Amino acid sequence: MELESLVKEGYELLGVFNWGDHFPLLGWLDLQGVRRRCRALAARVNVFVGKIIAEHRRKNHGVRIDEVESGDFVDLLLGLEEKERLSDSDMVAVLWEMIFRGTDTVAILLEWTMARMVLHPDMQAKAQAEIDSVVGSSRPVSDSDIQHLPYLQSIVKETLRMHPPGPLLSWARLAIHDVNVGDHVIPAGTTAMVNMWAITHDETIWSEPQKFNPDRFIDEDVNILGSDLRLAPFGSGRRVCPGKTMALATAHLWLAQLLKSFKWVPSKNGVDLSGNLKMSLEMKNPLVCVAIPRY
Ligand code: HEM
Repeated sequence: MELESLVKEGYELLGVFNWGDHFPLLGWLDLQGVRRRCRALAARVNVFVGKIIAEHRRKNHGVRIDEVESGDFVDLLLGLEEKERLSDSDMVAVLWEMIFRGTDTVAILLEWTMARMVLHPDMQAKAQAEIDSVVGSSRPVSDSDIQHLPYLQSIVKETLRMHPPGPLLSWARLAIHDVNVGDHVIPAGTTAMVNMWAITHDETIWSEPQKFNPDRFIDEDVNILGSDLRLAPFGSGRRVCPGKTMALATAHLWLAQLLKSFKWVPSKNGVDLSGNLKMSLEMKNPLVCVAIPRY
């Protein structure tokens, strides 16, 4: 609950229009309390993430890094060689960035994907048949199964196309020198935004862009990790999302597990696909659906 509340407060603060950013005197007065809230959040994050680091230090005390049992990301940071080692505050910053950027986005993607599964029972059944044939009923889905589930992967791709969780990528980029983008000149000092949502709904690029059709990715293998700018929901280039592979691995595994164990049907209120653009593109009305055990 503390993590959820920290992430929620973080996104609210990122999205708030802060008059103080535009009128320095107001910034100093902090009438909206944005700076005060940021300071309070930073203190809570330090305690929360600091505890995780301390727990790992206790667990690993006197153990060589290659002998550490769980060997997770924190263990890895703690085990860095002396000259590469991060200070505690840098470690908190790195870990918090990963937690903050990695929780909401994946949850939103899964919610949109499940909404689509509820709305398209034929596609849901096709994905379940694929899972059944690859995994069977006697064991849970594992990471290594995902590569054998192309239809499931194409469902996630199509969801990322229709409902990209970060439709404006990093929101804003500052051109530090003049650049040409196609026929346009972007002069140095311009703040530019990339509207990935518009690209993924452009009918000159996608046939029937408003139609949810995972099969389009069975017919054509589109790389979504940043090399094909028709669909780059994780961005592209130097500031591309560093969690993209983990995000996809998590979303695929969760989706496979949810579809394997349950049939998902709409609740009495149905499914509303309206979006709400905050820092991420969320569902305006959170998905409520009914899970019927398949076994
Ligand atoms: C479906 C899930 C996710 C989506 C759609 C997503 C999308 C994005 C996008 C669009 C950007 C900006 C890229 C750009 O402007 O070119 C970004 C940045 C970032 N993402 Fe993700 N992300 C997801 C999951 C994750 C996960 C799981 C992590 C960490 C474990 C993560 C960590 C980050 C970080 C740290 C940045 C900032 C990178 C920088 O500024 O250099 N993201 N992500």
